[in-house]
Amino acid sequence: MKRRDFLKLSSLSLPAVLGLNPSAHASTMAALPANIKAGDWPALRDMFALTRSYIHLATFLLASHPKPVADAIERHRQAFDENPADYWHEHFMTIDAEVAASAASYMGGKGEQIALTDSTTMGLAMVYSGLKLRPGDEILQTVHDHYSTDLSLQLRAERTGAQVRRIALYEDSATITEAGVVEKLEEAIKTNTKVVAVTWVHSSTGVKLPVRSMADLIDSVNADREEADQIVFCVDGVHGFGIENVDVPSLGCDFFIAGTHKWIFGPRGTGLVWGSERGWHNSLAVIPSFSRSYDVWLGGSTQDQVPIGEHMTPGGFHSFEHRWALPEAFKLHLALGKDKIQSRIHQLNSQTKAGLAGMKHVRLHTPASDDLSSGLVCFEVEGMGPEEVVSRMHEKGIIMSATPYRQSYARFAPSLINNEEEIERALAGIRALA
Ligand SMILES: Cc1ncc(COP(=O)(O)O)c(C=O)c1O
Repeated sequence: MKRRDFLKLSSLSLPAVLGLNPSAHASTMAALPANIKAGDWPALRDMFALTRSYIHLATFLLASHPKPVADAIERHRQAFDENPADYWHEHFMTIDAEVAASAASYMGGKGEQIALTDSTTMGLAMVYSGLKLRPGDEILQTVHDHYSTDLSLQLRAERTGAQVRRIALYEDSATITEAGVVEKLEEAIKTNTKVVAVTWVHSSTGVKLPVRSMADLIDSVNADREEADQIVFCVDGVHGFGIENVDVPSLGCDFFIAGTHKWIFGPRGTGLVWGSERGWHNSLAVIPSFSRSYDVWLGGSTQDQVPIGEHMTPGGFHSFEHRWALPEAFKLHLALGKDKIQSRIHQLNSQTKAGLAGMKHVRLHTPASDDLSSGLVCFEVEGMGPEEVVSRMHEKGIIMSATPYRQSYARFAPSLINNEEEIERALAGIRALA
């Protein structure tokens, strides 16, 4: 990295270097034609190298790269292999902002508010390590969160003595109600609660939390607090991102943390953190970024000239061919239509739940309601552990997963690459386990 590169940059804003204003750039990227018609699911399936020897009902764990993403990775990989130093120098000053702008064109908000990460886990660890806390401040989390949230908070507590309290937002996932969840949260918030950490869609039960209503409650608590005491609301949004047709800022949280290598079909090893003004204001970076913050260190510019998302993006060299191909995944989702994606995934999940609900030997743990569930269906088969269900189904050519939690369930994740007939075959497989 050359000082003169930074100095050139520091006298100009990044958009000026790009010759664009960021929002215009975002919409230009969004408008680029992706070679597919909205809602064309068979054409989408053809974009994946996924073997047809199996029915894939666990692709959300780690994406297979659709063709436009795979092609972009290959283009970048080849250019890096031919001439890594020049290729990096040509792009490093502008490309993170382009990737963040393409994310914003899909998820709403501004590219400047988005930090790029390598996974959900990295984003969670960054946010929970960097939140500014005073002695006595409490972090309130839930018993429904993933290992990555639990451990990020536990590690923070071990390092700093931060107080973490864990609550249940529901007892029985299948009968959860929106009002019940909000009530549990309201009862749990104390005067020293400074952070609320939750997971949008629980990979343990398939429950989708009513995040907007929870944010409304937190807003009403914050309205009676001094700014320094206001609660920062953090959401692990990974299962939901790439399904639900929402603008992320409209959810009302302060941090939205997600991997982009699951439902979004982005390159493996990519993710992001979107932060509100209050969220970022309450945070410190924990990993030095290779953004213009480097130039602040060199003395060429001041910290206020660096967009916060850039400053929070962990630096060092990454697998850039993957990160730089991420815009292709957002373009693909926009071309397919966010509204159509949401209704297709919910339709296939409803079909799955309706089928399972009719089986006497099956206990469904995911709510039937579209408002309280998303793309995951969790259940038990009488007299059979979840791992055995998974392996019996694998023998029948159906790939599913067991939830990686102390209380484990069998789990289907019907997604855009599935169709109605595959769901019926998977249901027949479970029916035959009776
Ligand atoms: C709710 C939840 N959060 C975080 C993760 C970890 O995601 P990543 O692999 O992107 O770090 C998972 C794993 O699937 C998860 O289910």
